[in-house]
Amino acid sequence: MSDKHTPASTGFSHEKVETNNFLMIVLILLVIAIGGAVEIVPLFFQRSTTQPLPGVVPYTALQLAGRDVYLREGCYNCHSQMIRPFRAETLRYGHYSVAGEFIYDHPFQWGSKRTGPDLHRVGGKYSDEWHRVHLLNPRDVVPESNMPAYVWLDTAQVDAAGMAPRMKALRSVGVPYTDAEIAKAAADVKGKTEMDALVAYLQGMGRALK
Ligand code: HEC
Repeated sequence: MSDKHTPASTGFSHEKVETNNFLMIVLILLVIAIGGAVEIVPLFFQRSTTQPLPGVVPYTALQLAGRDVYLREGCYNCHSQMIRPFRAETLRYGHYSVAGEFIYDHPFQWGSKRTGPDLHRVGGKYSDEWHRVHLLNPRDVVPESNMPAYVWLDTAQVDAAGMAPRMKALRSVGVPYTDAEIAKAAADVKGKTEMDALVAYLQGMGRALK
């Protein structure tokens, strides 16, 4: 039987692989490892995935605080930040997302769940005031909205003392904050509410490729 599947010249028996679970698993892992490496490793060396797009700069202290509010409140459970390169998406949201726009995002908020619209290019789409009203009660501006209201953001103060350590942590993973920026971070967010911070974050989103 095995002769039928075995080219006499190689002496290699495919039946051996097919009937030996362990060998099969090892070989599958080997193939996946090589295939994965071929696809993944080049991404660490391409300019398009390692360099920021012109105009993409690190978040200001206030935007960074807003981004933390975005994470804490779980906005990513309903909103993606990843416009795919399909006509239906680019017509609705604008230019598709590219890797160089997310260089300073640790971690990025691409997501895939879209109960609400994608937010990647929402920066500049509405006024600050629109965002405030919308976040306090979405139904005031979009009557059919099922987005929750985030009333507490308007009174909660940004954690000013926490900004410098957060910026230092980001610097350790490659975000080029200067000592001067870190030193004045607390002063930059002093007296700001979490609403101010979240709106600043939203308004900065996706501007590099408008
Ligand atoms: C339960 C799902 C859900 C959650 C959680 C949620 N949203 Fe929404 N969001 C929606 C829906 C649905 C819409 C569309 C209707 C509307 O504009 O209110 C929307 C719309 C928006 C818009 C307007 C987008 C546009 O292009 O018109 C913004 C901005 C927004 N959300 C921000 C946020 C932020 C910031 C958070 C977290 C604080 C958040 N959302 C949490 C569901 C959600």
